[in-house]
Amino acid sequence: MADSRPIGVFDSGLGGLSVLRELSLAMPQERFIYLGDIARLPYGTKSQAVVSKYSISCGNFLVQQGIKALVVACNTASALALPLLQQELGIPVVGVIEPGVSAALSVPSEETILVLATEGTVKSEAYLQAFARRNPSRHVIQLACPLLVPLAEEGWFEHSITESVIRTYLSQVKAHSYGVVLLGCTHYPLLEKSFSHVLESGKQSVHGAHILAQELHQLLREKNLLTSQPNTQGIQFFSTDRIKTSLPILRALFQEDIHFSLVDL
Ligand code: DGL
Repeated sequence: MADSRPIGVFDSGLGGLSVLRELSLAMPQERFIYLGDIARLPYGTKSQAVVSKYSISCGNFLVQQGIKALVVACNTASALALPLLQQELGIPVVGVIEPGVSAALSVPSEETILVLATEGTVKSEAYLQAFARRNPSRHVIQLACPLLVPLAEEGWFEHSITESVIRTYLSQVKAHSYGVVLLGCTHYPLLEKSFSHVLESGKQSVHGAHILAQELHQLLREKNLLTSQPNTQGIQFFSTDRIKTSLPILRALFQEDIHFSLVDL
């Protein structure tokens, strides 16, 4: 039996649109509802209790919209609140940590993996634990890069200042000979060009959005939750505060104008 209900996607803000884009490319027939919790951004500096509370309210809102599955596009919410969301919401809930780990492990390299993420994700050690489960012998280090989120929001995707900030952060781990850089925050993939200018040749940056899309497709197929009807309604966008449609981050991710409906959580 086919299921035409939408798939919910939430992030603390707009970075999760990079995940939504991969999902809608992988499953063009599916309907999506996106929620950006702009009013309470950033999650990356907040405690587990607060991020859990916010994540549950976002999840509950999307469940009320009739979604059949939830994607936690935010790394911080995935790191701090995924088990709670899976326990509370009564629908399949997937996060971005495991797909990110898969992306990093798929690079043919034995070198150290460097995870770049928010302070909250780094402190949770969710990535370290996931790598230890999947490949206990692999050396993994992590680094919080809080300044990269506002630079991405500002649209400085390929910019000398962004490169300088990345270079400064990476200098903190220069003693380690890492070979793979996992972009463990929704905003960082937007800065991939700046990363490629800074990273020495042979070092590769990866993120898990593509793998997440494939895995969700597979999960929905197994659970008989894929739709059989083409999506004629586009994507619905909600946010918890006003968003300027001219924001560079929107233009970079979705060519057309996006209208966000305001929601009070
Ligand atoms: N969405 C967050 C993440 O992926 C980054 C922005 C924030 O701190 O809320 O971790």
